[in-house]
Amino acid sequence: MQSNSGNIFPVFHQILGRTEKEQVLRQRAKVIWLTGLSGAGKTTLAQHLEKALSDKGYFTQILDGDNIRTGINNNLGFSEDDRFENIRRIAEISKLFVNCGVITINCFISPTEDIRNMARRIIGQDDFIEIYVNAPLTVCEDRDVKGLYSRARRGEIKEFTGITSPFETPENIDFEIRTDLFSIEKSVSQILEVILPRIAYH
Ligand code: ADX
Repeated sequence: MQSNSGNIFPVFHQILGRTEKEQVLRQRAKVIWLTGLSGAGKTTLAQHLEKALSDKGYFTQILDGDNIRTGINNNLGFSEDDRFENIRRIAEISKLFVNCGVITINCFISPTEDIRNMARRIIGQDDFIEIYVNAPLTVCEDRDVKGLYSRARRGEIKEFTGITSPFETPENIDFEIRTDLFSIEKSVSQILEVILPRIAYH
């Protein structure tokens, strides 16, 4: 692909910037980044978290691997390079949402430290809240909600995270949720404790 970065002039000054948009929405925008194995409970948690935030008057958007990969990222697979590109685009999209004042809840396996650090770098440390949605592989495999683990074990899916592709334990997290130990309600209230002070508008 040809780079045209020398001919592009991004606009940084807007009459209505992020601050004004956050003021309209009465919230501070952040990206709540949920990382974890397939089947760990990222999507379920995100949906309940979104409902809890909405009940408190916060305006949010969920970005989810399975949905994004059928749309904007439908040309990407699960090689290391494609996972990088998947997360790079998501991080850029999340930045657009944050600049609109929207609290974004992201559910992506984002399996390596390099990938998660890239997302943090693009979004910015201050706006990035990393939560490890953790359930042991055996638990995720037992749940096998989508039947993907058994297919991966049979060799029908290549490069499946946790089976034939790595998942590195996140080292820079703000918080860890053990979905095999806590109920959804408890997990959501634990996450709220961490994020409410960071999204509240003063
Ligand atoms: S990531 O690794 O690039 O962050 P992402 O979160 O977008 O992955 O997509 C993961 C979802 O794709 C899983 O929840 C699962 O439903 C599906 N999937 C299909 N093939 C694979 C695979 N080889 N590895 C992991 N997930 C897969």
